Amino acid sequence: MIPKLELHLHLEGAAPPALIRDLAARRHIDISGIFDERGRYKFTDFAGFLAVYEAATSVLQSPEDYARLTRAVLEDSADQGVVYAETFLSPDFCGGGDLSAWRDYLAAIEEAAAQCAAQGGPELRGILTCVRHFGPERAKRAALCAAETAGRFVTGFGMGGDETVGAQKDYAWSFDCAREAGLGLTTHAGEWRGPQEIRDALQDLGVTRIGHGVRAIEDLALVDELAERGITLEVCPGSNIALGLYPDLRHHPISELDRRGVKVTISTDDPPFFHTSLTREYEGLHAAFDWDEGQFMRLGHTALDAAFCDTDTKARIL
Ligand code: HPA
Ligand code: ZN
Repeated sequence: MIPKLELHLHLEGAAPPALIRDLAARRHIDISGIFDERGRYKFTDFAGFLAVYEAATSVLQSPEDYARLTRAVLEDSADQGVVYAETFLSPDFCGGGDLSAWRDYLAAIEEAAAQCAAQGGPELRGILTCVRHFGPERAKRAALCAAETAGRFVTGFGMGGDETVGAQKDYAWSFDCAREAGLGLTTHAGEWRGPQEIRDALQDLGVTRIGHGVRAIEDLALVDELAERGITLEVCPGSNIALGLYPDLRHHPISELDRRGVKVTISTDDPPFFHTSLTREYEGLHAAFDWDEGQFMRLGHTALDAAFCDTDTKARIL
Protein backbone atom coordinates (compact mmCIF):
# COMPACT_ATOMS: atom_id res chain seq x y z
CA MET A 1 0.00 0.00 0.00
CA ILE A 2 1.21 3.53 -0.77
CA PRO A 3 2.15 5.33 2.47
CA LYS A 4 -0.21 8.29 2.83
CA LEU A 5 -0.13 11.59 4.67
CA GLU A 6 -3.16 13.68 5.49
CA LEU A 7 -3.03 17.35 6.52
CA HIS A 8 -6.73 18.25 6.60
CA LEU A 9 -8.93 16.09 8.79
CA HIS A 10 -11.50 17.33 11.32
CA LEU A 11 -11.47 14.94 14.27
CA GLU A 12 -15.22 15.10 14.95
CA GLY A 13 -15.75 15.04 11.18
CA ALA A 14 -14.05 11.66 11.06
CA ALA A 15 -16.34 10.17 13.73
CA PRO A 16 -17.90 6.88 12.61
CA PRO A 17 -21.71 7.27 12.73
CA ALA A 18 -21.95 4.12 14.89
CA LEU A 19 -19.77 5.72 17.57
CA ILE A 20 -21.89 8.89 17.58
CA ARG A 21 -25.11 6.83 17.75
CA ASP A 22 -23.73 4.79 20.64
CA LEU A 23 -22.79 7.86 22.67
CA ALA A 24 -26.15 9.49 21.90
CA ALA A 25 -28.02 6.39 23.12
CA ARG A 26 -25.99 6.22 26.34
CA ARG A 27 -26.70 9.88 27.04
CA HIS A 28 -30.35 9.73 25.94
CA ILE A 29 -29.77 12.44 23.35
CA ASP A 30 -32.08 12.22 20.34
CA ILE A 31 -30.08 13.02 17.20
CA SER A 32 -31.86 10.47 15.00
CA GLY A 33 -32.74 13.31 12.58
CA ILE A 34 -29.13 13.66 11.43
CA PHE A 35 -29.01 10.14 9.97
CA ASP A 36 -30.59 8.76 6.80
CA GLU A 37 -32.32 5.38 6.58
CA ARG A 38 -28.95 3.68 6.01
CA GLY A 39 -27.51 5.25 9.16
CA ARG A 40 -25.32 7.72 7.32
CA TYR A 41 -25.04 11.42 8.13
CA LYS A 42 -27.76 13.31 6.25
CA PHE A 43 -27.58 16.88 4.89
CA THR A 44 -28.11 18.66 1.59
CA ASP A 45 -25.77 21.65 1.61
CA PHE A 46 -22.84 23.20 3.47
CA ALA A 47 -25.01 24.99 6.07
CA GLY A 48 -26.82 21.71 6.67
CA PHE A 49 -23.52 19.89 6.91
CA LEU A 50 -22.26 22.28 9.62
CA ALA A 51 -25.52 21.84 11.57
CA VAL A 52 -25.29 18.04 11.40
CA TYR A 53 -21.60 18.20 12.32
CA GLU A 54 -22.37 20.24 15.42
CA ALA A 55 -25.28 17.96 16.39
CA ALA A 56 -23.05 14.89 16.09
CA THR A 57 -20.32 16.65 18.07
CA SER A 58 -22.78 17.50 20.86
CA VAL A 59 -22.73 13.88 22.06
CA LEU A 60 -18.95 13.99 22.60
CA GLN A 61 -18.93 15.31 26.13
CA SER A 62 -15.84 14.12 27.96
CA PRO A 63 -12.11 13.57 27.49
CA GLU A 64 -12.83 9.81 27.47
CA ASP A 65 -15.23 10.30 24.54
CA TYR A 66 -12.48 12.08 22.63
CA ALA A 67 -9.97 9.35 23.49
CA ARG A 68 -12.39 6.81 22.06
CA LEU A 69 -12.96 8.99 18.99
CA THR A 70 -9.21 9.40 18.46
CA ARG A 71 -8.65 5.64 18.62
CA ALA A 72 -11.48 4.98 16.15
CA VAL A 73 -10.21 7.60 13.70
CA LEU A 74 -6.62 6.38 13.86
CA GLU A 75 -7.69 2.77 13.35
CA ASP A 76 -9.46 3.89 10.15
CA SER A 77 -6.41 5.89 9.09
CA ALA A 78 -4.11 2.93 9.71
CA ASP A 79 -6.35 0.83 7.44
CA GLN A 80 -5.83 3.41 4.68
CA GLY A 81 -2.05 3.20 4.95
CA VAL A 82 -1.78 6.61 6.61
CA VAL A 83 1.63 7.12 8.22
CA TYR A 84 1.16 10.72 9.35
CA ALA A 85 -1.94 12.84 9.95
CA GLU A 86 -2.74 16.27 11.28
CA THR A 87 -6.18 16.70 12.77
CA PHE A 88 -8.18 19.80 13.56
CA LEU A 89 -9.12 20.04 17.23
CA SER A 90 -11.49 22.65 18.53
CA PRO A 91 -11.33 23.89 22.14
CA ASP A 92 -14.86 25.22 21.55
CA PHE A 93 -16.10 21.64 21.30
CA CYS A 94 -13.64 20.28 23.87
CA GLY A 95 -14.60 22.07 27.07
CA GLY A 96 -16.28 25.20 25.68
CA GLY A 97 -13.07 27.19 25.22
CA ASP A 98 -11.99 26.85 28.85
CA LEU A 99 -8.22 26.34 29.09
CA SER A 100 -8.22 23.97 32.03
CA ALA A 101 -10.95 21.79 30.50
CA TRP A 102 -9.11 21.88 27.18
CA ARG A 103 -5.96 20.56 28.85
CA ASP A 104 -7.92 17.52 30.06
CA TYR A 105 -9.32 16.84 26.59
CA LEU A 106 -5.91 17.32 25.02
CA ALA A 107 -4.26 14.91 27.47
CA ALA A 108 -6.82 12.23 26.58
CA ILE A 109 -6.46 12.76 22.83
CA GLU A 110 -2.68 12.84 23.01
CA GLU A 111 -2.48 9.69 25.10
CA ALA A 112 -4.79 7.83 22.71
CA ALA A 113 -2.67 9.00 19.79
CA ALA A 114 0.56 7.91 21.48
CA GLN A 115 -0.89 4.44 22.13
CA CYS A 116 -1.93 4.08 18.49
CA ALA A 117 1.49 5.23 17.27
CA ALA A 118 3.21 2.76 19.63
CA GLN A 119 1.17 -0.01 17.98
CA GLY A 120 2.43 0.96 14.53
CA GLY A 121 -0.43 3.36 13.69
CA PRO A 122 -0.05 6.78 12.13
CA GLU A 123 1.81 9.60 13.84
CA LEU A 124 -0.78 12.26 14.76
CA ARG A 125 -0.44 15.99 15.39
CA GLY A 126 -3.11 18.51 16.37
CA ILE A 127 -4.01 21.79 14.71
CA LEU A 128 -6.18 23.79 17.08
CA THR A 129 -8.96 25.57 15.26
CA CYS A 130 -11.31 28.37 15.93
CA VAL A 131 -14.75 28.22 14.37
CA ARG A 132 -15.38 31.19 12.10
CA HIS A 133 -19.12 31.46 12.65
CA PHE A 134 -18.61 31.46 16.43
CA GLY A 135 -16.96 34.88 15.97
CA PRO A 136 -13.62 36.57 16.78
CA GLU A 137 -14.01 36.67 20.58
CA ARG A 138 -14.38 32.92 20.89
CA ALA A 139 -11.55 32.54 18.38
CA LYS A 140 -9.28 34.44 20.77
CA ARG A 141 -9.99 31.90 23.51
CA ALA A 142 -9.18 29.08 21.11
CA ALA A 143 -5.94 30.83 20.16
CA LEU A 144 -4.98 31.23 23.82
CA CYS A 145 -5.62 27.52 24.36
CA ALA A 146 -3.40 26.83 21.34
CA ALA A 147 -0.62 29.13 22.56
CA GLU A 148 -0.71 27.62 26.06
CA THR A 149 -0.55 24.03 24.85
CA ALA A 150 1.77 24.45 21.84
CA GLY A 151 4.46 21.79 21.75
CA ARG A 152 5.29 18.44 20.31
CA PHE A 153 1.66 17.44 19.70
CA VAL A 154 -0.12 20.77 19.19
CA THR A 155 1.81 22.11 16.24
CA GLY A 156 -0.64 24.34 14.40
CA PHE A 157 -3.51 26.78 14.56
CA GLY A 158 -6.26 27.20 12.01
CA MET A 159 -9.81 28.25 11.30
CA GLY A 160 -12.76 26.21 10.09
CA GLY A 161 -16.48 26.83 10.08
CA ASP A 162 -18.52 28.98 7.73
CA GLU A 163 -16.26 30.84 5.32
CA THR A 164 -19.11 33.12 4.28
CA VAL A 165 -19.25 34.77 7.72
CA GLY A 166 -17.17 37.92 8.43
CA ALA A 167 -13.65 38.40 7.08
CA GLN A 168 -10.32 36.64 7.59
CA LYS A 169 -8.87 39.83 9.10
CA ASP A 170 -11.42 39.69 11.95
CA TYR A 171 -9.33 36.77 13.25
CA ALA A 172 -5.87 38.37 12.84
CA TRP A 173 -5.35 38.73 16.60
CA SER A 174 -5.83 35.00 17.09
CA PHE A 175 -3.43 34.09 14.30
CA ASP A 176 -0.82 36.57 15.60
CA CYS A 177 -1.12 34.99 19.04
CA ALA A 178 -0.65 31.50 17.60
CA ARG A 179 2.28 32.58 15.42
CA GLU A 180 4.05 34.08 18.44
CA ALA A 181 3.66 30.72 20.16
CA GLY A 182 5.54 29.11 17.27
CA LEU A 183 2.56 27.36 15.69
CA GLY A 184 2.13 26.65 11.98
CA LEU A 185 -0.85 28.44 10.45
CA THR A 186 -3.62 27.42 8.06
CA THR A 187 -7.18 28.57 7.38
CA HIS A 188 -10.14 27.44 5.31
CA ALA A 189 -10.38 29.75 2.29
CA GLY A 190 -11.32 29.59 -1.35
CA GLU A 191 -14.00 26.95 -0.91
CA TRP A 192 -17.22 28.95 -0.43
CA ARG A 193 -15.73 32.29 -1.38
CA GLY A 194 -13.51 33.03 -4.36
CA PRO A 195 -9.86 34.01 -4.89
CA GLN A 196 -10.03 37.23 -2.86
CA GLU A 197 -10.62 35.20 0.28
CA ILE A 198 -7.33 33.37 -0.34
CA ARG A 199 -5.51 36.65 -0.88
CA ASP A 200 -7.00 37.92 2.39
CA ALA A 201 -5.90 34.78 4.23
CA LEU A 202 -2.31 35.21 3.01
CA GLN A 203 -2.17 38.91 3.71
CA ASP A 204 -4.22 39.26 6.87
CA LEU A 205 -3.40 36.00 8.66
CA GLY A 206 0.04 35.14 7.27
CA VAL A 207 -0.79 31.46 6.75
CA THR A 208 1.58 29.13 4.87
CA ARG A 209 -1.16 26.61 4.08
CA ILE A 210 -4.72 27.02 2.88
CA GLY A 211 -7.55 24.61 3.64
CA HIS A 212 -9.11 23.86 0.24
CA GLY A 213 -7.99 26.95 -1.71
CA VAL A 214 -9.23 25.31 -4.90
CA ARG A 215 -11.08 28.37 -6.13
CA ALA A 216 -7.70 30.02 -6.72
CA ILE A 217 -8.12 28.47 -10.16
CA GLU A 218 -10.58 31.30 -10.94
CA ASP A 219 -7.66 33.79 -10.86
CA LEU A 220 -4.53 32.62 -12.65
CA ALA A 221 -2.41 35.48 -11.26
CA LEU A 222 -3.19 34.13 -7.81
CA VAL A 223 -2.35 30.60 -8.94
CA ASP A 224 1.08 31.87 -10.04
CA GLU A 225 1.52 33.66 -6.72
CA LEU A 226 0.67 30.51 -4.76
CA ALA A 227 3.19 28.56 -6.84
CA GLU A 228 5.92 31.18 -6.43
CA ARG A 229 5.40 31.53 -2.69
CA GLY A 230 5.23 27.79 -2.15
CA ILE A 231 1.86 27.96 -0.40
CA THR A 232 0.48 24.47 0.17
CA LEU A 233 -3.16 23.70 -0.51
CA GLU A 234 -4.91 21.06 1.59
CA VAL A 235 -7.17 19.82 -1.18
CA CYS A 236 -10.15 17.61 -0.31
CA PRO A 237 -11.64 16.56 -3.65
CA GLY A 238 -14.33 14.21 -2.31
CA SER A 239 -15.54 16.87 0.12
CA ASN A 240 -15.81 19.44 -2.68
CA ILE A 241 -17.81 17.05 -4.83
CA ALA A 242 -20.08 15.86 -2.00
CA LEU A 243 -20.92 19.48 -1.18
CA GLY A 244 -21.61 20.32 -4.82
CA LEU A 245 -18.67 22.63 -5.52
CA TYR A 246 -17.76 20.56 -8.60
CA PRO A 247 -19.88 17.94 -10.36
CA ASP A 248 -17.14 15.29 -10.45
CA LEU A 249 -13.39 14.76 -10.23
CA ARG A 250 -12.80 15.47 -13.90
CA HIS A 251 -14.09 19.02 -13.32
CA HIS A 252 -12.10 19.42 -10.10
CA PRO A 253 -9.10 21.80 -10.38
CA ILE A 254 -6.57 19.73 -8.37
CA SER A 255 -4.80 18.43 -11.46
CA GLU A 256 -4.66 21.85 -13.13
CA LEU A 257 -3.34 23.48 -9.94
CA ASP A 258 -0.66 20.82 -9.73
CA ARG A 259 0.24 21.28 -13.39
CA ARG A 260 0.62 25.01 -12.79
CA GLY A 261 3.13 24.40 -10.01
CA VAL A 262 0.99 24.88 -6.93
CA LYS A 263 1.86 22.61 -4.00
CA VAL A 264 -1.24 20.43 -3.67
CA THR A 265 -1.88 17.69 -1.12
CA ILE A 266 -4.76 15.22 -0.74
CA SER A 267 -7.06 14.97 2.29
CA THR A 268 -10.54 13.76 3.21
CA ASP A 269 -11.84 16.63 5.44
CA ASP A 270 -14.70 14.72 7.15
CA PRO A 271 -14.62 11.23 5.60
CA PRO A 272 -17.85 9.55 6.80
CA PHE A 273 -19.83 12.73 6.11
CA PHE A 274 -18.61 12.75 2.52
CA HIS A 275 -18.61 8.96 2.06
CA THR A 276 -14.93 8.95 1.36
CA SER A 277 -11.60 7.63 2.63
CA LEU A 278 -8.06 8.44 1.65
CA THR A 279 -7.90 5.22 -0.36
CA ARG A 280 -11.04 6.22 -2.25
CA GLU A 281 -9.57 9.67 -2.95
CA TYR A 282 -6.44 8.07 -4.40
CA GLU A 283 -8.47 5.62 -6.48
CA GLY A 284 -10.61 8.44 -7.85
CA LEU A 285 -7.60 10.57 -8.75
CA HIS A 286 -5.96 7.61 -10.44
CA ALA A 287 -9.12 7.01 -12.50
CA ALA A 288 -9.73 10.68 -13.36
CA PHE A 289 -6.18 11.86 -14.08
CA ASP A 290 -4.22 8.67 -14.45
CA TRP A 291 -2.12 9.61 -11.43
CA ASP A 292 0.30 6.81 -10.60
CA GLU A 293 2.30 5.76 -7.58
CA GLY A 294 5.13 8.15 -8.47
CA GLN A 295 2.71 11.08 -8.51
CA PHE A 296 1.15 10.04 -5.19
CA MET A 297 4.59 9.70 -3.60
CA ARG A 298 5.52 13.15 -4.90
CA LEU A 299 2.40 14.64 -3.30
CA GLY A 300 3.17 12.70 -0.12
CA HIS A 301 6.53 14.46 0.03
CA THR A 302 4.80 17.79 -0.58
CA ALA A 303 2.58 17.06 2.43
CA LEU A 304 5.57 16.08 4.53
CA ASP A 305 7.39 19.30 3.63
CA ALA A 306 4.33 21.34 4.62
CA ALA A 307 3.59 19.35 7.79
CA PHE A 308 3.73 21.33 11.02
CA CYS A 309 5.65 18.68 13.00
CA ASP A 310 9.33 18.96 13.95
CA THR A 311 12.09 17.94 11.57
CA ASP A 312 13.08 14.86 13.59
CA THR A 313 9.57 13.51 13.20
CA LYS A 314 9.60 14.32 9.47
CA ALA A 315 12.83 12.39 9.03
CA ARG A 316 11.11 9.26 10.36
CA ILE A 317 7.94 9.44 8.24
CA LEU A 318 8.73 8.68 4.60
N1 HPA B 1 -15.25 22.78 6.55
C1 HPA B 1 -15.33 23.86 7.34
N2 HPA B 1 -15.50 23.79 8.63
C2 HPA B 1 -15.60 22.60 9.17
C3 HPA B 1 -15.53 21.45 8.43
C4 HPA B 1 -15.34 21.54 7.06
O1 HPA B 1 -15.26 20.54 6.33
N3 HPA B 1 -15.66 20.40 9.27
C5 HPA B 1 -15.79 20.93 10.49
N4 HPA B 1 -15.75 22.25 10.44
ZN1 ZN C 1 -12.17 21.32 6.47
